[in-house]
Amino acid sequence: MRKDLLAQARGDVLEVGCGTGRNLPFYVRATTLTLTEPDPEMARRTRRRLSMVSVPVQLVEAPAEALPFADCRFETVVSTLVLCTVKDPVAALSEIRRVLVPGGRLLILEHVQAHPGIWRVAQNLLAPAWKGLAAGCHLSRPSLALIETAGFVPVVVREVGQGLLPLRIGRYRAPN
Ligand SMILES: C[S@@+](CC[C@H](N)C(=O)[O-])C[C@H]1O[C@@H](n2cnc3c(N)ncnc32)[C@H](O)[C@@H]1O
Repeated sequence: MRKDLLAQARGDVLEVGCGTGRNLPFYVRATTLTLTEPDPEMARRTRRRLSMVSVPVQLVEAPAEALPFADCRFETVVSTLVLCTVKDPVAALSEIRRVLVPGGRLLILEHVQAHPGIWRVAQNLLAPAWKGLAAGCHLSRPSLALIETAGFVPVVVREVGQGLLPLRIGRYRAPN
């Protein structure tokens, strides 16, 4: 899934919350790559892997809610398994929109709120314990709705799996 998604990352690319750098091998079409990660230990582990990227790359320690970049700086922003964890997803998406060029790409791989039904109920029941066990991750966060409320337009978004951790993978377009 990461490979398919990141093949669509073109131009100047920003990845928010890069973790340990698991996406690095898949940036085959980027012109430049900027990574952000607020956790110093994760950032340290990613730094060790930067040599596997063949384009100019930089890593900045910053949260998605306060991106230290100029407006309209990037053609593509990538977020994989991050919107579930950020403290303020509305602020993060507003920042992502700000730094994207008009019409730019937002590529996501996220686990989201289940459709109404038994799995949604299970998510809501487990969410408090999950948050404590999984580094602040919100099991039932409606990230797709938040993305659209932030003004992004879905281009292709696939549902992958159901159950407790339904994944969505796809591309959104920033407004013009
Ligand atoms: C489940 S990990 C995913 C890491 C990586 N994106 C991946 O796909 O392997 C969640 C990441 O979000 C980061 N994170 C947490 N709060 C954040 C925030 N406010 N802004 C940006 N990243 C954040 C964590 O430090 C962690 O690296």
